[in-house]
Amino acid sequence: MLVLGVCSLKGGVGKTSVTLGLASAALARGVRTLVIDLDPQGDATMALAVDDAGGTGADVASVLADPRASVVERAIAPSGWADDGLDVMRGSARSAAHDGPGSDADLDGLAFALSFVGDYELVLLDCPPSLGNLTRAGLTACDRAVVVTEPGLFSVMAVGRAMRTIDELRRGPAPALQPLGVVVNRVRGRSTEQAFRLEELRSLYGPLILTPFVPERAALQQAQGAARGVHTWPGEPAAALADVFDDLLDRALRAPRTT
Ligand SMILES: Nc1ncnc2c1ncn2[C@@H]1O[C@H](COP(=O)(O)OP(=O)(O)O)[C@@H](O)[C@H]1O
Ligand SMILES: [Mg+2]
Repeated sequence: MLVLGVCSLKGGVGKTSVTLGLASAALARGVRTLVIDLDPQGDATMALAVDDAGGTGADVASVLADPRASVVERAIAPSGWADDGLDVMRGSARSAAHDGPGSDADLDGLAFALSFVGDYELVLLDCPPSLGNLTRAGLTACDRAVVVTEPGLFSVMAVGRAMRTIDELRRGPAPALQPLGVVVNRVRGRSTEQAFRLEELRSLYGPLILTPFVPERAALQQAQGAARGVHTWPGEPAAALADVFDDLLDRALRAPRTT
């Protein structure tokens, strides 16, 4: 099982979009996947069309508070994207209560909870846009992390801070954690400012800059708004996005693992 965190210290750069794109690629390929929605905004849970009709009342906040097998089981529901193969550990605003300062000893709960999830090949963790304890607890449960950025000035600086956080966690509570790389999102072909920032990213992070880049396409928002995966969305732009996420998934699944 590969546990992959999707993080950035900025909101709106595309963490949830990348999580959903990878989940869509995994589903298309038959890779059994669990998405954990750590963001109190719960965007991934909504976009994955989780049916809460049977409402167990449990979600990721319940798991953080009490990481027992029975709680973990109740917090997980199937995604509405397919009959089988893609599940979600529901997010909710209640997880914000776990974002306050705490000691490193508090960071292990989610990692412990993952020992009770079913047999998934891939776990994707959609992180909140901060450096708080939620993100730290999330990354502590991960083998690999991708940092999502846009090719803009402040986003490039935020990549450095995210990378340092990953480094600091590896030297502390998360010895298995390694950066997979930087996913560059919302790339527009003809922007000279973006071209400059892409050069800057390459010179700063070299091989950690993952390719292909994710282009800016309205089809991504349309699929999300309809609570569908981009692999099942019609049209050429969606198909091109699907190819990009297929390649990024390949890269993630190929990464050598220590655990
Ligand atoms: N490559 C893209 N092309 C078009 N829209 C995008 C793209 N990436 C993200 N968006 C849109 O930008 C907004 C913020 O993205 P989101 O994934 O929610 O960011 P985050 O999870 O980092 O806050 C969403 O409305 C999303 O649909
Ligand atoms: Mg998000």
